[in-house]
Amino acid sequence: MPAPSTTRLKSKSAPTASKVRSSTLLAFKQAGQPITCVTAYDYPAALALEAAGVDVCLVGDSLGMVVLGYESTLPVTLEEMIHHAKAVKRGLTRALLVVDMPFMSYQASVQQALLSAGRLLKECGAEAVKLEGGEEIAGTVRQLREAGIAVMGHIGLTPQSVHALGGYRVQGRDKATAAKLLKDAKALQASGAFSIVLEGVPGPLATRISRALKIPTIGIGAGVGCDGQVQVWHDLHGALPGRRPRHAKAYGAQFDAQVAALKLYGDQVRQRAFPTKDETPA
Ligand code: KIV
Repeated sequence: MPAPSTTRLKSKSAPTASKVRSSTLLAFKQAGQPITCVTAYDYPAALALEAAGVDVCLVGDSLGMVVLGYESTLPVTLEEMIHHAKAVKRGLTRALLVVDMPFMSYQASVQQALLSAGRLLKECGAEAVKLEGGEEIAGTVRQLREAGIAVMGHIGLTPQSVHALGGYRVQGRDKATAAKLLKDAKALQASGAFSIVLEGVPGPLATRISRALKIPTIGIGAGVGCDGQVQVWHDLHGALPGRRPRHAKAYGAQFDAQVAALKLYGDQVRQRAFPTKDETPA
């Protein structure tokens, strides 16, 4: 059977109906079609992403902070990623499923990286894995590719290195660190990564990196010059109380809507206004 076409892209706003594969993202870049990516951590979110025609579904290790209540992504385990990615997979049809490799599931050795990534593919049906780091992980990326595993890179503000970076800070503000990020991006591309997340990178630098690469960049806090954008589910939906990161835009007010629904339910139970006849078996 011939491989499904990934190059027939019609309009910049209409998503293609065919299954998104890692190779599709390159075709999107070549056609100038921005890539949409959103994180998801469960089955209902995956169904919503599909209904909205989002191209890439990322089970990010942000899971730790927005779902599990950890202070950083560092405590997230491979088991936790697998548990959530399996649920997401059950809701997906068209979107490309990328799953994050959590802290210390790939840094110790190439063999550890291969075994961890292998579990994400075998047990959750991940179609690609994402790793944080630049030149220093290029060898690992190459080995994963040689094992037939599609790899998304992630450079700039890499949350797994929060302590080494001295906090969640924009990266690449000076000449030397900007040059290092460009070098990192090129090293990841040369090692076979099919796309790279640019997180917390000044807009002009992100544009420069995007233009210098054949593979697409997916930005978060990196401006409009990237080849696509990724947002965390809870930021996009306003699903958590308190301050949002600067790069995020809330397209909904889910937390407030949930609290309002819960209050109404509570009031009705206390007033014996729920359940009514409609919700009661005869
Ligand atoms: O973990 C995550 O959600 C991510 C995105 C912010 C890119 O890595």
